Amino acid sequence: AALAGCGLDPSPGQTAELLRSATPLPEAFKVPLPIPPTKRPIRSDAKADHFRVVQRKASLEILPGLKTEVLGYDGLLPGPTFDTRSGRTTIIEQVNELDVPTVVHLHGGHTPAASDGWPLDLLMPAGGHHGHTGHHGMTGGDVQTGSRMYTYPNTQRAATLWYHDHRMDYTAPQVYRGLFGLHLIRDEEEDRLPLPHGDREVPLVIADRAFAEDGSFRYPARTDGPGVESQYMEGVIGDVILVNGAPWPVLEVDAARYRFRVLNASNARRYELALDRGSAKLVQIGSDGGLLGAPIEHESLVVAPAERFDIVVDFSQYEVGSEITLLNKLDSGRTGEVLRFKVARRAKDDSTVPARLSAYAAVVEPAGVVRRQWRFRRGNTGTHQGWTINGKPFDPQTMQAMVKLDQYEVWSFVTDVHHPVHVHLAPFQVLRRRGKGPGAYDHGWKDTVDVRPAEVVEVLVKFSAHKGKYLIHCHNLEHEDMAMMAGFETV
Ligand code: C2O
Ligand code: CU
Repeated sequence: AALAGCGLDPSPGQTAELLRSATPLPEAFKVPLPIPPTKRPIRSDAKADHFRVVQRKASLEILPGLKTEVLGYDGLLPGPTFDTRSGRTTIIEQVNELDVPTVVHLHGGHTPAASDGWPLDLLMPAGGHHGHTGHHGMTGGDVQTGSRMYTYPNTQRAATLWYHDHRMDYTAPQVYRGLFGLHLIRDEEEDRLPLPHGDREVPLVIADRAFAEDGSFRYPARTDGPGVESQYMEGVIGDVILVNGAPWPVLEVDAARYRFRVLNASNARRYELALDRGSAKLVQIGSDGGLLGAPIEHESLVVAPAERFDIVVDFSQYEVGSEITLLNKLDSGRTGEVLRFKVARRAKDDSTVPARLSAYAAVVEPAGVVRRQWRFRRGNTGTHQGWTINGKPFDPQTMQAMVKLDQYEVWSFVTDVHHPVHVHLAPFQVLRRRGKGPGAYDHGWKDTVDVRPAEVVEVLVKFSAHKGKYLIHCHNLEHEDMAMMAGFETV
């Protein structure tokens, strides 16, 4: 790819190009870790909680002394957190006060197709500035103007989900500018566990960004049109690490156990998280699709874009006053650090991590299941320069598979380079990676799996309840926008 002149460098270990900030980088571990506010319902009835979110521009101080214009749900980055109950419906009116069309997708949601955020089901801005509607001038989606209702039945177990923009061809720049947030689901199985909670249950939404001199987000300009050579098709990674929207923040902790809900909301950057000192482990209790059956201890945790890891860290072994840094071992220098913990005080701790967390069990692969292969490859052929699945760039008119509800299938994901593969509607279990068992980070119900270069990962998946058009795609968002996405229909 032609990288000259736009500040992009190839970056080892990442399928992405590093975009450098033109501002001085802020000093690390000065700003306290912000916690995204919990969204309050405008009303609740017997079955549902109703919310209203305004997508709007806001000018936020992300770097000290500078203003960054963001596109935010309620003007926030990350957006507000939805804290919901399994089985209780969440109904969200999304209002678009931006000047671009948007699409909202609840990532990990067991969502009816009409609310799943098909990339052409656009929500047009209220003000009538319609911007670009998509580079092919394509229609065929359910286009609404001003506001749109999204219904999430939350008929699924407790899990850390997230919501983000999914507009066709523009997901990467719109998420980069701020359109992402958390959506938690809780249930009784989880409530019964003596896990850390309250102030000791902390979201860590990690996203890298680059900044221009004036503090605005730096992102390569997109040249419109199909087949146009993109200068960023490998994926964009920045040189500033944000956690919950703050650069390299610091969190004061008690010398006690904490539960961290880790989300990698980055467009393309992968992390290998590890603590820099002491023998405390990252104890994984959950994955994308909720609690594991039993905890798994990790020295380090590789987190690809869109993956979630629910972890517990016990700070009781550290002296008061200790400073512990959460590293990103895939990098050195500034992007080799993420966050710092400061152990502020001794404190009582009633929490534990039980040996049995949930009724989760690995599903045995039934005999005679339908098998499908999904090949994720570069596709610089003919008029299309970008990425393909099974040799085809995304075409919203064509379904690559018709999938029967209520029966298991084995899907194989085959890659050329790194691709975090995501499937909508149903979670899956990883059966095999490179012909062997699941990898260290593959346990539990997942909806996104990090498929490394030239690998085959096989997963067991079963869709249920909702008929309609859904997506499988790469969650490197630049790959996604460069057409590494396919529709399938549940029937
Ligand atoms: Cu997180 Cu189809 O998306
Ligand atoms: Cu990819």
